[in-house]
Order: sequence, then structure tokens, then C-alpha cells
Amino acid sequence: MIDFNNVTKVLGNNTVLDGMDLHIEEGETFVLVGPSGTGKSVTLKHIVSLMTPDSGSVKVMGEDISQCSKKRKEEVLSNFGYLFQGGALLAWMSVADNVALPLIEKTNMKRKDIYEKVYNALELVGLEDDGDKMPSSISGGMKKRAGLARAIIRDPQIVLYDEPTSGLDPVMARTIDHLIVDLNEKKPGMTSLVVTHDLHSALSIADRIGLLYLGKVIVDLPPDEFIKSEDPEVVKFLEAQYITKRGSWEKERK
Ligand SMILES: Nc1ncnc2c1ncn2[C@@H]1O[C@H](COP(=O)(O)OP(=O)(O)OP(=O)(O)O)[C@@H](O)[C@H]1O
Ligand SMILES: [Mg+2]
Repeated sequence: MIDFNNVTKVLGNNTVLDGMDLHIEEGETFVLVGPSGTGKSVTLKHIVSLMTPDSGSVKVMGEDISQCSKKRKEEVLSNFGYLFQGGALLAWMSVADNVALPLIEKTNMKRKDIYEKVYNALELVGLEDDGDKMPSSISGGMKKRAGLARAIIRDPQIVLYDEPTSGLDPVMARTIDHLIVDLNEKKPGMTSLVVTHDLHSALSIADRIGLLYLGKVIVDLPPDEFIKSEDPEVVKFLEAQYITKRGSWEKERK
């Protein structure tokens, strides 16, 4: 469904992706983790053609997304929902109008039907009373949730989530985890790629977890194996979140 083959991308004088391979199957929830600045967001941008590889290829639904015709690219990308890292709401539109935007721009649905769908999506993310508010008057976590509602409003086949739970309180973070899992269960064949630093999230929603390090996915394992991995970078990632190699929780303060 999503295939990175030997992808290299240099930004400035930094080789961000360095011969990266990544293969995500239809119906899978793949979680990508890794230190800040390693290229997780850059990876997502390649999938929707906001960035193109210097070498190698990125195939989406079998189509080389940087090489295909504009029409075909639009067709392929119409299957996507994208939650941007910062939410990316338009400041001059209300929350509900932001969420409605993909339906207004890309469908011929009636206004009444659009806003019915919008408020259903807002309810899913706990914002049903906030549709009339402007982005500048809601919190960072609310912006993130509004961005999530917008990402899923067209019932996409593939959703890319860039840090869906960062900046949320733990209860809301788990609500979003459940939402991601529910969406996948409700829609057979739905594929999700989730970038996160949140290990709780990764372990509870992933079919596979990949660790991006120095431009490559160096570990790609199901959660129960990921947590037992002896790879030094995985161990570092787990220990930073107070999890030992044995998979047990350590107390935060000794
Ligand atoms: N448009 C750009 N121009 C130049 N450099 C960029 C650009 N976008 C990203 N980079 C650089 O590429 C590297 C990877 O950035 P990226 O945003 O993918 O990191 P990340 O893994 O998502 O980090 P975080 O966890 O902090 O979100 C960083 O060094 C960043 O400065
Ligand atoms: Mg990022």
C-alpha cells in the first residue's frame, strides 16, 4: 500500500532519509517512532508528495507518486487523510468550517449534509460544543483534535497521523488512541501510519512499530517484540520512557 524503496532525501546539508525502505500493507496500523528531527514528518510528506525523493521511489497504491500524472496523483491522494503535526487549521475560519473544508472543496455534498458529518466528526474528538470557535481561541490540544476531525472527514482509506496525541492530557490521548483503533476496525482495509513519541499509544495501537534512525527504519517489529528488542536504539527509546528491556514498568522516581 505504501512502499519506500531505497529513498534518499537531502535537505540543506543534512541527509535526512538515507536509503530508507519501508513497506506498509493494506489494513495495517504502522507506528513510526524515532528521535526528534530524524525525518518522521519528512517521511509522511513524501507519501503525499509534499516532498519528492532525491533518489529511490515512494509508491502509494502501486503508483510512483512523484512520477505519475497530476490527475492520477489527485486520484490517489483523494484516498488520504493527513493530520499535520501542528493541526494546520486556517486561522480565519471557525473550527467547523475548517473541518468542513475537504468536503466543500472536493465533493458536491449539500451544506446541510456536510455540517451533519462535520458535527459527527467533532463529536468523535470531543469538540461538539466548539464548532463555532475560532482556532485562535482554542487550546493546542483542541487544535490537534480539530485537525484529526478534518483528517478523517472524507472517510479516507489511508490516514497519516503526525503526533496525534502530543500535547493532549493522558485521558484525551487514550481517547484518540481508541478513535484510531475504532476507525480501523469500522473500515476494513483502512491503513494507518502514525508518527508518535507516545509509547503507550505505539504499543496499544500498532500492528508493527518501526524505529527511524539515521535515515533508515532500523527496527520493524510487532509491539510485543519491539518492547523486548535488544537493539541499543530501541532500548534507549524505551528507557527514556521508564520501560526496561524486560518490558516491565519502572517507577518514575527511585
Ligand atoms: N523544508 C525543509 N527544509 C530544510 N530542512 C528541513 C525541512 N523539513 C525538515 N527539515 C529537516 O529535516 C530533518 C527532519 O525533520 P522532520 O520534521 O522530519 O523531523 P521529525 O522526525 O518529524 O522530528 P519531530 O519529532 O521533532 O517532529 C530536520 O533536521 C529538519 O530540520
Ligand atoms: Mg515531526
